[in-house]
Amino acid sequence: MDSILVKGNGALNGVIPIAGAKNACLTLMPATLLSEEPLTLTNAPRLSDIRTMTQLLQSLGAEVASLQDGLVLAMSSHTISNHTADYDIVRKMRASILVLGPMLARDGHAVVSLPGGCAIGARPVDLHLKAFEAMGAELDLRDGYVHAKAPGGRLKGAVVEFPFVSVGATENALMAATLAKGTTVIKNAAREPEIVDLARCLQKMGAQIEGEGTSTITIQGVDRLHGATHPVVTDRIELGTYMLVPAICGGEVELLGGRIDLVGAFAEKLDESGISVTETARGLKVSRRNGRVKAVNVTTEPFPGFPTDLQAQMMALLCTADGVSVLEEKIFENRFMHAPELIRMGAKIDVHGGTAKVTGVSKLKGAPVMATDLRASVSLILAGLAAEGETLVNRVYHLDRGYERVEEKLSACGAKIERIKGN
Ligand code: UD1
Repeated sequence: MDSILVKGNGALNGVIPIAGAKNACLTLMPATLLSEEPLTLTNAPRLSDIRTMTQLLQSLGAEVASLQDGLVLAMSSHTISNHTADYDIVRKMRASILVLGPMLARDGHAVVSLPGGCAIGARPVDLHLKAFEAMGAELDLRDGYVHAKAPGGRLKGAVVEFPFVSVGATENALMAATLAKGTTVIKNAAREPEIVDLARCLQKMGAQIEGEGTSTITIQGVDRLHGATHPVVTDRIELGTYMLVPAICGGEVELLGGRIDLVGAFAEKLDESGISVTETARGLKVSRRNGRVKAVNVTTEPFPGFPTDLQAQMMALLCTADGVSVLEEKIFENRFMHAPELIRMGAKIDVHGGTAKVTGVSKLKGAPVMATDLRASVSLILAGLAAEGETLVNRVYHLDRGYERVEEKLSACGAKIERIKGN
């Protein structure tokens, strides 16, 4: 397994291009299963999760070609030749569950392995399944697989009311509803930019959708969807992560393709801590004003609140802030695994359940650390950039799931970072 070696090197300055969103791409790709005609995505990120979704779609009979060095994904699902998503692929990536809605909606049946637990909590898929049941599907859970059937071969429009907000369940229900008979109303829908992006793409394919980006989405089912070409929205989590580079190291970085509306709540917290964020013609520019950052309190919430996927990275920044910060994690029950690793680097953090109290120190110290999940791994790199000495981040395969060309993007700003190839 590869490791990443980071050496603190003072202020960082430069320009970083932001890729298309992993989480948008992982829901746009399964949308190809809804139509016999080709779906082409541009601005795709080059990530291992995208390759995993490619393999999954291919295993179902879709053709997926990666063009222009992976920036373009040309997909075609003329027929779905296999309706079973195997455990071997699903266990690698939870987003695999997103093939269930499209297959069930198009052909009236699908079998998908249950994703199982994962490092950041139990993460069940019950809300996805309840949505399909509301739309008339008959579900049978056998041998770790969900066997789903739509009586008469077609789902029926329904009112789907989620007890709490789920990004994945909203996406699955939205895709399924586009081909259901009649009208579906999704209540308490997620409002994330990735949902809006999915809706835009489905609309280009001929779907009748209203209310995306609000908590109530109404879908009028159609008989068939057609082909389309769609650019993947900017990755707001990659954007937020790199906004933290000048915040934690000092300096000024311009993030190409950055949009303030994608990171509103996060940018407000940066402002509160003394970081300047301005809009430019090409994106966003971030710089640290004088001195240490100020401690701030953060609570993770569904969009438009502060994203859980930026909590670990924000914690790295607050480890060096002046004062005491309190971080509350409200989305996932076990998402502070980066805390013990940051403590190895000299951070002062007390975790009690879903709350972490961070007392800022003036300087972190480099240390060997272990990446425990995707966002945790990049938080350790950020901490390493700001630390004295060398930090060796082990198990970086998590990082490659969600961040393309990290070493290249950070070196371009003056960072000392290199990948050490594992066996
Ligand atoms: C998506 C993102 C992930 C992000 C998360 C929250 C993708 C591929 N992943 O994950 O990066 O951290 O949104 O912004 O887009 N839940 C249930 N039952 C369900 C579904 C979810 O109890 O059927 C719970 C989860 O365990 C969690 C909460 O609901 O506590 C929110 O999860 P959800 O929004 O569904 O996250 P994902 O779609 O899995």
